[in-house]
Parts: sequence; structure tokens; C-alpha cells
Amino acid sequence: MSSSDTIGNGDLPDPKSLNREGFNKQRRYFLIGATAVAGGVGVAGAAVPFLASWSPSAKARALGAPVTLDISKLRPGEMLGPVPAWRGKPIFVLYREEEAVERLKAENDTLADPGSENAEVTPDFARNPWRSERPEIGVYVGLCTHLGCSPKYYGEVKPEPFDPEWQGGFFCPCHGSRFDMAGRVVKGVPAPDNLPVPPYRFVSDSVVVIGEGEGTA
Ligand code: FES
Repeated sequence: MSSSDTIGNGDLPDPKSLNREGFNKQRRYFLIGATAVAGGVGVAGAAVPFLASWSPSAKARALGAPVTLDISKLRPGEMLGPVPAWRGKPIFVLYREEEAVERLKAENDTLADPGSENAEVTPDFARNPWRSERPEIGVYVGLCTHLGCSPKYYGEVKPEPFDPEWQGGFFCPCHGSRFDMAGRVVKGVPAPDNLPVPPYRFVSDSVVVIGEGEGTA
């Protein structure tokens, strides 16, 4: 794979053709629709625009070739992925809002490993409240550490059927595991560990290479 193999979310609808609410809905649908790609479930049609800009070969991905992601169009509160970008594993790239960045700094005794002590899933560079190089951008392997389902992103702070005091994060519908906005697992759910942090590095503010640098997955 060459360094020019860049994946982005540049196939979003033209904002001028939609009112703001419509655009946001379309945009959210696109980003979340991309979740169908690697999880093997969901709305296949929504993944097509995403796949159109996907160029690395399956063999290169399986061998763990680095994959470059353009996140320039990702907005606070949104998630790109899962992107099949690391040894065939789905990757989540999350752009946290400022409130979420601040919230993650608070002590939280509902988490199983709030300090990310388990080095098997958190490399040194990500041993911080966000589990990431940059506080606002989180990069995680999108596989539940229970039995490997792909958790769903619920980024809003609002009561959810699975948690009336939901603060945003990921919910695995398979057996009910929950993770916060840094991929830290909640106590008492089937998943034993936080979502793994893959190797990655930023080559600019808006371009990240998955599969290079220090990581665990
Ligand atoms: S695979 Fe996620 S809770 Fe079981």
C-alpha cells in the first residue's frame, strides 16, 4: 500500500443543498452508516460511498499495512468508523467535544480500569484520561473485549434504555457491555477490558496513520 492511500469522509452531502438539520441528519447517517463496513451488519447501502474511497488491498490490510485516514471533515461529537484499517480490525476515530474532554478527567468509580493500568490494551502514550495522543481525538479498536462484537457509538449525554444516566460512549448490544468516551469499560459488564488502542500517529492535524507508532492491538 502506498502513502497516498487515504480514506476520508469526503462523500458527505453538499451542505448548500440541505438545511442545517437535514445536513446534520445526513451527515450523522453517513458516519454511523460506515459502521456497517467492518462489523458485517447494518445498512450495506450506507457504506458504499465510504468504500468508494477505500483503496488498500485486502491482503495489505490483513498483513497490517498502515492505513492513512483523512479526518478533516470529522466534527466534534462525531465518530468515523468502524474503518477496517488495522489487520482487518475495525477502527473507531472519535472527535470528542470539549465537554466530553473535560468530563473524562473527573474521577469515575463506575469504571473497571479508569487509569488504564492494563498495558495489553493501552500503550504508554495513551495512559491518560482520554486514552489518546490528543485529548479531543480518540482512536480505538472497535471490538468489544468480551466476545468481539462491534460496539455502537452513543455520543450524546442523555438517558438511554441501557443506562438512564448515560454520559456518552459505546454500547455493545450483544451482551450489554458499556464503555465511556475514552473506551474505558464500565464495572460489572461482561467485557473484561477497555477497548484496545491501536498503533497510530498523526502526520498533520487532520491526517492520521493507523498501524504505525506505539500501540497494543
Ligand atoms: S461481545 Fe460485547 S458484550 Fe458480549
